[in-house]
Amino acid sequence: MLVNMKILYATETGNARDVAERVARECSRQSINKISLASIDAYDARQLPKEDKNILLFVCSTMGQGDPPKSFEKFWKFLLKKNLPLSTSLLNLKFAVFGLGDSSYEKYNFVAKKLFRRLEQLGGESVIELGLGDDQHFSGYDGGLDQWLETLYVKIFGSEFYREKIIGFKDKLDVCPVEVSVVVRDGHGDGVGSADGVNDDDDAPVETRRGVMRAVDSMATEEVSDDNNGTYWRALKVMKNECCTSESAVRQVHHIELDNRYTDVHDFSPGEVLEVLPCSRSAIGREVLDLLTNSIVVKDGDNGYRAILDAENLVVSVSSSGSSSKNSRYICRAKYLVAYFLDCFSASPRSYFFEVCAYFAKDPLEKEKLQHFASPEGRADCYQYCQRERRSVKEFFEEFTSVKLPLEWLLHVAPKLKPRQFSISSSPSQHKNSDGTHVDLISITVAVAKWTTPLKRLRSGLCSTWMAEKLRTSDVVYARVVKSGGLPYSHTGSMILIGPGTGAAPFRSFILERCSRRNFDDKILMFFGCRRKAEDNLYETDWENVEKWSQGNIKVVTAFSREQENKVYVQDKIRGDSSKEVWDLISRCEAKIFVAGSSEDMPARVREAIRDVCAKEGGMDKESATRYIAELEAKRRYFVEAW
Ligand SMILES: Cc1cc2nc3c(=O)[nH]c(=O)nc-3n(C[C@H](O)[C@H](O)[C@H](O)COP(=O)(O)OP(=O)(O)OC[C@H]3O[C@@H](n4cnc5c(N)ncnc54)[C@H](O)[C@@H]3O)c2cc1C
Ligand SMILES: Cc1cc2nc3c(=O)[nH]c(=O)nc-3n(C[C@H](O)[C@H](O)[C@H](O)COP(=O)(O)O)c2cc1C
Repeated sequence: MLVNMKILYATETGNARDVAERVARECSRQSINKISLASIDAYDARQLPKEDKNILLFVCSTMGQGDPPKSFEKFWKFLLKKNLPLSTSLLNLKFAVFGLGDSSYEKYNFVAKKLFRRLEQLGGESVIELGLGDDQHFSGYDGGLDQWLETLYVKIFGSEFYREKIIGFKDKLDVCPVEVSVVVRDGHGDGVGSADGVNDDDDAPVETRRGVMRAVDSMATEEVSDDNNGTYWRALKVMKNECCTSESAVRQVHHIELDNRYTDVHDFSPGEVLEVLPCSRSAIGREVLDLLTNSIVVKDGDNGYRAILDAENLVVSVSSSGSSSKNSRYICRAKYLVAYFLDCFSASPRSYFFEVCAYFAKDPLEKEKLQHFASPEGRADCYQYCQRERRSVKEFFEEFTSVKLPLEWLLHVAPKLKPRQFSISSSPSQHKNSDGTHVDLISITVAVAKWTTPLKRLRSGLCSTWMAEKLRTSDVVYARVVKSGGLPYSHTGSMILIGPGTGAAPFRSFILERCSRRNFDDKILMFFGCRRKAEDNLYETDWENVEKWSQGNIKVVTAFSREQENKVYVQDKIRGDSSKEVWDLISRCEAKIFVAGSSEDMPARVREAIRDVCAKEGGMDKESATRYIAELEAKRRYFVEAW
């Protein structure tokens, strides 16, 4: 049976794209006529009624508090058009939807669920039940995906579905979409090529990423762009990097100020976030060279592959396979690819990495173990070995020493270096230059992520550790302000702000902005939470000052969870002494409620506390109070940003 398939994905952090690529890869191993893969924002939704020759597979994640990824918005707007007749608009459409989400969130897989319902409502025919992937599953989203995909394949390929052809792809290798050729041999110019045009700048991680992304991204049809609604990566110098917690604090937090004077980012709003490109100059050191020397091989003319002899000097050209366009070639030192484009020293690879490494393993025992990891049956073991233990690519190669991976495959299957977001914690108005045209300073508040794995290995987060421990004054950070999403700040109106830990960051920006504009007419009630007054009481002096300046119109209530026998959190403070004040602000002053922070169940506990306040002070039963909060949300008076 010949099948045409279009796979459209909507992703925020890349997982939905990984899934879409897996389906495209696996389907191309079966009898499939035509297969295409694209980000959903590159698809013209007006084509939907004409898709009678294709099966459309949607893979989309849910972010925020039940929000779609940015790339989904235009497509969704089209589907919601009132002039689309129900039941008949998409009569010709055959579709499947797989969602990625996390069941610890209240709106679990909300986007996929509403997409599935809407496509059916408009007359589309689903070829399979809605599939859901859950971060909480012990094998991650693969747990839901494996079984769903197998059912999908049986449905679309029918009697021509051979499990071993798609899933048991043991002794074969897909076509690698990345091509790498050696430009200058290691061991210094021996006549093979010239290093002219090599992008050799030690300080240009952004250039390397941009160049390699353009060259490598051949599978997706959309243009690779590092544009973000008009804001590009900027080099910002560190002005201050200060630890604002005591040595005894369980989690260190740093206040980092960045010099924005020389960029063209003139303005931003409180509530917006700064996206930072993690980059460790130390990654250029021994570790990168050892990885290249010991575990990676490069093409050696027509004679197969050879080891890298002098990793320091190897220069390669990267392109998409089949692409002859000069623009999609990128020439640079191999060590910069590993340091600036890939995340080989922190992130854990996904199962396709193991499948490819199984193919290249020389030792039969290693091969067998890797084949098991790559199979659906070995998924839980793989997840345990890799994701739960946060094993990096480097650690993998230290253990599986018989695997010698070609550089093009490393670029294709190793995790890519991903930017991280940080809420801006400074006020733009407070740091305007003398003629008021430019914001000179941007600050962020960074908690250093450190944790122990089930096997008691100490791990630390890549970006937060790098920023806190490595960044010195005058060092450069590549960053950009994210101009969409974020918490919607307004210069007027009462607010209830709930920001324990680094959740205080966006609210420091809110409050200092109001102070800077001398707007003290509207009340602000802020709840901040931390462990102990002397340990992690972030921005204590700022809160004291704003309470004084505003003459009581800005009030900060603090919950120190460990100062007494029973733990006290922000939700307890909301329910406790502040209950009447909270209700007065909600019911009389029409205050907007903002919640931000990193604690896993904090947003849910805070919501319950607000519900309890509404019930107690507003004389409602629990159900009515729950509905009341849902209405506040619908009226855009209740916002959550959790990470
Ligand atoms: C909109 C938004 C705003 C944000 N604002 C801020 C902010 O103001 N301040 C701030 O500090 N962060 C903020 N973050 C979080 C930030 O983007 C990073 O996720 C965080 O700094 C960790 O990045 P990292 O590179 O250090 O860690 P990574 O290398 O990305 O590692 C983090 C990952 O490690 C794992 N992990 C971490 N801790 C544990 C644990 N205890 N047990 C098991 N696994 C664990 C998890 O899988 C986690 O996803 C924000 C995130 C978003 C989305
Ligand atoms: C800040 C943040 C908010 C999230 N919000 C939700 C949510 O509301 N509902 C849900 O089901 N999953 C939520 N998730 C989980 C993601 O959907 C899940 O991690 C998914 O694999 C991400 O896929 P992507 O990389 O394709 O964007 C959230 C994850 C993050 C980091």
